[in-house]
Amino acid sequence: MADLPHLSGSDIRDKFLKFFETRQHKILPSASLISEDPTVILTIAGMLPFKPIFLGQRKPPQPRATTSQKCIRTNDIENVGRTARHHTFFEMLGNFSFGDYFKEQAIEWAWELSTQVYKLPPERIIPSVFHSDDEAFAIWRDKIGIPENRIQRMGEDNYWTMGATGPCGPSSELFYDFHPELGDENIDLEDDSRFIEFYNLVFMQYNQDAEGNRTPLQNKNIDTGLGLERMAQILQQVPNNYETDLIFPIIKTAAEIAGIDYNQADEKTKTSLKVIGDHVRAVVHMIADGITASNTDRGYILRRLIRRVIRHGRLIGINGNFINQVAATAIALSESAYPNVREREEFIKNQLVTEESQFLKTLDRGEKLLAEIIASTNKQISGVDAFTLYDTYGFPFELTQEIAEEQGLTVDEAGFEAEMEQQRTRARAAHETIDLTVQGSIDKLAEHIHPTEFSGYGELQSQAKVEAVLISGKSSEAAEVGAEIQLILDQTPFYAESGGQIGDKGYLSGDNLLIRIQDVQQESGFFVHYGKIERGSVTVGDTVNAAIDRACRRRVQANHTATHLLQAALKKVVDNSVSQAGSLVSFDRLRFDFNSPRALKPKDVQQVEELVNTWISEAHEADVNIMPLEDAKAKGATAMFGEKYTAEVRVIDFPGVSMELCGGTHVKNTAEIGAFKIISETGISSGVRRIEAVAGAAILDYLEVRDKVVKELSDRFKVKPEEIGDRVNSLQAELKATQKELEAAKQELALAKSDSLLSQAETVGDYKILVANMGEMDAKSLQSAAERLQQKLGESAVVIASIPSEGKISLVAAFSQKVIQEKKLQAGKFIGGIAKICGGGGGGRPNLAQAGGRDASKLDKALDTAKQKLIEGLS
Ligand code: ALA
Repeated sequence: MADLPHLSGSDIRDKFLKFFETRQHKILPSASLISEDPTVILTIAGMLPFKPIFLGQRKPPQPRATTSQKCIRTNDIENVGRTARHHTFFEMLGNFSFGDYFKEQAIEWAWELSTQVYKLPPERIIPSVFHSDDEAFAIWRDKIGIPENRIQRMGEDNYWTMGATGPCGPSSELFYDFHPELGDENIDLEDDSRFIEFYNLVFMQYNQDAEGNRTPLQNKNIDTGLGLERMAQILQQVPNNYETDLIFPIIKTAAEIAGIDYNQADEKTKTSLKVIGDHVRAVVHMIADGITASNTDRGYILRRLIRRVIRHGRLIGINGNFINQVAATAIALSESAYPNVREREEFIKNQLVTEESQFLKTLDRGEKLLAEIIASTNKQISGVDAFTLYDTYGFPFELTQEIAEEQGLTVDEAGFEAEMEQQRTRARAAHETIDLTVQGSIDKLAEHIHPTEFSGYGELQSQAKVEAVLISGKSSEAAEVGAEIQLILDQTPFYAESGGQIGDKGYLSGDNLLIRIQDVQQESGFFVHYGKIERGSVTVGDTVNAAIDRACRRRVQANHTATHLLQAALKKVVDNSVSQAGSLVSFDRLRFDFNSPRALKPKDVQQVEELVNTWISEAHEADVNIMPLEDAKAKGATAMFGEKYTAEVRVIDFPGVSMELCGGTHVKNTAEIGAFKIISETGISSGVRRIEAVAGAAILDYLEVRDKVVKELSDRFKVKPEEIGDRVNSLQAELKATQKELEAAKQELALAKSDSLLSQAETVGDYKILVANMGEMDAKSLQSAAERLQQKLGESAVVIASIPSEGKISLVAAFSQKVIQEKKLQAGKFIGGIAKICGGGGGGRPNLAQAGGRDASKLDKALDTAKQKLIEGLS
């Protein structure tokens, strides 16, 4: 074994960040797992928060940075637990240069860090370079002194791309050699029993577009990634990443619950425990960052991971709820580096247990389905069935296989694999790359135009230069009257939709030019104005007067500030732990979704509304400031989970009432809002509630609609509005009484009708029989009629039918005691058989029974049969 310093995961992280801090890198906090980049849905690498900087769309706040970034990748999910190093959740340590140092410095520091700080023996490090990168090769050989035969020239593996599009470049990787005794002759970096890649240095110089073309970036940058878990495996000298102090405690908790000793366990059990160890970290961080389980996008990934944890729990013999016990260990492990996990503990656990209980129910249903499949198969379970069990009911293929084997069956593994492959293709297409036409064009424009400057916090109108014109997402030099266009200006007073607040409306005008703007969206730092040319034409380079619709802006900001006051009031009235889950702020209303520990009572809703209105009438002045994120947090400003990755944040403060991080537009004084009205309060998913409300001028619209309804009602009822309630009550009572009368009249009519049938009764032996069709009559009246006829006829059997409504048949049989006892005929069984003839069924007691049918054309035949049977049965 190598002589290595035993460092904890935490030490490895700290030493990395300190090493680069002393080399003028600013330590930045990890960004949220919810990616802001539209081309990926989760943060997949340390470079992601810096993508706009690499592309030149955002100015770097400083030339160098270093981070420990939480990441999730699900493309290798099947390998988790099976290989020594695959994860869904992992931490990537990175040092970044934004147009500052480049190749040589990055390689020198990587070497120094690896050999001096982590003290890896130099003879155990093998570097790789992109095959044509002679420069990197020479640096390793001449500056670092690695013998030529140890530097490996590699293919596409050493060209790093973020995905189908985005910044990219050749890379150089550092591998650790677990078995240097095997010599330098047969170095095969793909042999993962001997080598592990631990540090990737990307020389980021190009931007790849959707067609695969690579164009040089303005700057040469450095992006690196050192796998924390992998370095921990190396330094802690354990056989795989899972047995490091970053994950093993979670595995131990799971093993204890299952009553298993990890070291004695077979490989399969170990794999399940590793899957649990990996996935539990992922789900804890995902929920902490504000992701909730669902069937789409990130929510789907979260749900799938939670289900895999539970399934693997089952595989090792845990049958009940257990996920919160393992989550508790994961939370304790991450709280020092990621305090938000502890802050959100209760929320995380609530979600996990809800999902778990729900899934445990599905699992039972899956087991039933599997039993059915087995019962109807005599040789092989199809790939499609195995896949349904896997995908819908969460059955691991191996479990299906095991159960099948016990029954002497096999499972079509190739068929199952084919279904899996199809799903993977679907997942890749759906999740990994979203290519938007506008986004693509903008990435190209980004090479020569600057991100839009927003001037609309202060001014509502300004002169601006047209930087780009797009028609249907494609860049164009000019556009004519009538065209629907997207326009980018150098600066704009128009707010672009973000943070729930919708984009401004308004006009762009110039010499004989008028463009109506309906919406403004933000794409990679550019404000895209969506509009239609109503007069004239526009050309790139034109100067226009950009003016927003002030009335709309006043409305939206009344609703936006009201949303802040609403959140503050909910914290006061309901619970301080209430937090925003989402919001929509538009011109005519607002919607606020929030995580709440309990449902709201009508009294709470009323109190919240009153408190917001009190704050409005107290006329609180807004105090808006830009400050470092840490300062804002220290002051107690409310932040939303998944808040943007910027060091400087905007704080909207109504002192003593509400303080929130927010980029939106707001009133200067709460009095401008005028009034606030809650329209509805509902639950939208477990632990998440929604309030819809209106504020400011929008209240008048709302009142107008309501008023119209009330006016119409009071006109129609000819009463005053306040008397509508009484009027409706008395109408309802009248209606009830009328219905009762109608019912009684119908019955009477039925009885009268039945009396007229008495004469049609025939005699069979000692009995009277009566079989008849009563025509249109409801089922209840038909029954009364049958009972009365039978009583009047004495020892008798009565079978009568009716057609209560189109396509419906009612049948009733009423038999006297002697018929039942001496002739052994029972009304229930008898009428059931008759009803079958007209496509129905039913039954009841021996003396009285009712049935129904649907085919009226068979009714005559049914009644003939009934008569025939009664004659046979009673003679
Ligand atoms: N961006 C590089 C990676 O993810 C460092 O490996």
